Amino acid sequence: MVSPQGPAARSIAGLFWPMLATAVAVFAFVTGMLLLAALRGRRKTEDDARNTPRWGEPFIVIAGVVVSGVILLGFFLFSLAKQQALADAGRRVRLVIHVIGHDWWWEVRYPNGAVSANEIHMPAGQRVRLTLETADVIHSFWVPPLGPKIDMVPGMHNELWLEAAKPGVYRGQCAEYCGLQHANMIIRVVADTPADFDAWVAREAEPAEVTAPAGRQIFENQTCAGCHTIRGTAAAGKVGPDLTHFGRRDTLGAGVRPRTDENLERWITDPQSIKPGVAMPPTTLSADQLNALVAFLGGLR
Ligand code: CUA
Repeated sequence: MVSPQGPAARSIAGLFWPMLATAVAVFAFVTGMLLLAALRGRRKTEDDARNTPRWGEPFIVIAGVVVSGVILLGFFLFSLAKQQALADAGRRVRLVIHVIGHDWWWEVRYPNGAVSANEIHMPAGQRVRLTLETADVIHSFWVPPLGPKIDMVPGMHNELWLEAAKPGVYRGQCAEYCGLQHANMIIRVVADTPADFDAWVAREAEPAEVTAPAGRQIFENQTCAGCHTIRGTAAAGKVGPDLTHFGRRDTLGAGVRPRTDENLERWITDPQSIKPGVAMPPTTLSADQLNALVAFLGGLR
């Protein structure tokens, strides 16, 4: 958040820094006055102490009422103007991405039918609108380097726009406590060049290309298919993330581990050891079956 990488985040930083500077100045001033009063108070006699306070002294009225009022009202109007500018700027977008929060992962849907999870690709240098909903409890979508934070509230539809000035990976985080694995509900925004993004999203919408048929059978016949969809196979579960192009993702378990074969093996056989509380049950497989399944999932590109 203190290192904005796009116009929305820069706009927010432009509000945050003056607010912080003012708050620090006010804190220093008030603390200084308190110390001054404490030191001077010692020199007073008991009679002085019993004097009724003199209300309406110019210093109290100016510092305590007028200056405070001007500062608070000023920041209120400043933040209203910023909010309005952020809302207006989000109306002109080329792409709308639908994001749905689940305990504890993110479903990501693109207008061309592509469905992905946890890693949100978008074109760099372009404004993208996100429409946000939740499938269960309140989550909060926040990618600090790119834009503001907004809650995903059951039964409500919220919106937000993001823009990454340059290609890169931007880390985000669920920002509303949503259960045991709230802290591991990680967002990765991958800003591609526009050409790379177009190619990525077109491929993402296609059905899976199966390179390891033995693993596909295991996936379809074990409990995996009950929860996960892999378009182009018999797996059409709706509980967990869509894994159609899982092999193109950098991480697994909503960003908790890099997507390596070792991590995937452990995730399949004992997901609770990586992400306690996650809805995914352990799966018992022979070593050959596990190898085949890992090869199949890694090959989903
Ligand atoms: Cu989702 Cu915290």
